[in-house]
Amino acid sequence: MTTMPRTMIANLVSHEGRGARICGFVTARRVLKRMVFLVVQDRTGEAQVTIERRMPAESLDATAAEISLGSAVEVYGTVAVNPSVKAGGVELLATALHVAGAAEPESPIDAASAPELQLDWRFLALRRPRNRLALEVQTTIEHAMRAYWAEHAYVELHSPKLMHSASESGSETFRTDYFELGHAYLAQSPQFYKQMAMAAGLERVFEIGPVFRAEPSMTPRHATEFTSVDVEMSWIESHEDVMRMEEQWLRQILSAVRADHGEAIAREFGVEVRVPEIPFPRIAMAEAHERVRAAGHVIAPTTKEGDIDPEGERLLARLTSDEQRSEFFFLTDYPSPLRPFYHMRHPERGGVPLTKSFDLMWKGIEITTGAQREHRHDVLVRQAEDAGVRESVSYYLDFFRYGCPPHGGFGLGLARLVMLVLELPSIREAVFLHRSPNRLTP
Ligand code: 4AD
Ligand code: MG
Repeated sequence: MTTMPRTMIANLVSHEGRGARICGFVTARRVLKRMVFLVVQDRTGEAQVTIERRMPAESLDATAAEISLGSAVEVYGTVAVNPSVKAGGVELLATALHVAGAAEPESPIDAASAPELQLDWRFLALRRPRNRLALEVQTTIEHAMRAYWAEHAYVELHSPKLMHSASESGSETFRTDYFELGHAYLAQSPQFYKQMAMAAGLERVFEIGPVFRAEPSMTPRHATEFTSVDVEMSWIESHEDVMRMEEQWLRQILSAVRADHGEAIAREFGVEVRVPEIPFPRIAMAEAHERVRAAGHVIAPTTKEGDIDPEGERLLARLTSDEQRSEFFFLTDYPSPLRPFYHMRHPERGGVPLTKSFDLMWKGIEITTGAQREHRHDVLVRQAEDAGVRESVSYYLDFFRYGCPPHGGFGLGLARLVMLVLELPSIREAVFLHRSPNRLTP
């Protein structure tokens, strides 16, 4: 076969009456007495391919009727625009067909298969445009994030994922052997290193990278490995500055998603991408408790003292959406026992100390935790001591010994953002490959 430049299927129409070569997967096949109709799909769309069964054998790799569904094929032919063709309204009258990769005859999944089976055969599931769209949306999101950071002079970090000690809390770490040093832990967050960057004078940093959590939870919102989006900034007055940055940044991100994929998302998922008004409401934890109590909710007894349960969070989301017309809200001023030792505390207000911290909730689900950090070495050491981690994080405490500016930041789960944009039932469908306690393959 002579090589002719490839035409993407979405552009076939502009080749009407001329020759073209398309490449893609066979997604449907209809065998008639004299003809075989295939539907071929590439990343831009689908087209019908019409093959005469009498086509000379040297132009056709297999007999047309034997080309199995899913096969990767290359087709040469003449383009005919034909509105009666369901697949894209365009037809390629084949002159030659080459099977680049034959599929086994029976696909192990179809669109109706159970979610876990779909994950077993994720590469096949991803061939469906709807599933691919999630990754295209993710790409746009990351691109828009970086565009914001570039405009505002942020520096990108790639911090180590092998660590000497746990970066968040001790119980959720994966441990591995590490040469003469004994053990290493997989990073649960770039937290310590983005703060080191503040002590190093980088002032504004971000990282998009993998983090690992040995959480046994099997909820639709949890993975054992996920992509964390982290930001840290210096010379803030309080966590309010961090929240202000985050809401502007998110507005810019959702505008980009709406512009690039709004129509496709509405078509495939029936979801409208809305660009939120800012500022988002801020609700202090104590006020959150009052509001859900007033609405008749009793916080689940298994909830940690001072915290709110997921049901309460969803109720709060409904109240905020009805009363304040916002799908987003910041939940602020968490009591210190609920937060890591490095969160800064409000000047004492009596009772349990509150932290200068927040979670960002969207559609009733946490997407971010953030805070102003404690940058004063003596105070931080005391907080680390109280948390019983002073020894194991001594190298981290050193970052604050030689003058560190006030700073704060946040971490956001990328998959949660994608899941909520598309209103998917689980983050499993929002990522390329999911990792959970019972899944290490593919
Ligand atoms: O709330 P987390 O644990 O906060 C931190 O990692 C802090 N170091 C952030 C900071 O700067 N203070 O994780 C941040 C976000 C969560 O809000 C959630 O969106 C996501 O990461 N996340 C998970 N996503 C998927 N699977 C899991 N197991 C997740 N755990 C947290
Ligand atoms: Mg959190």
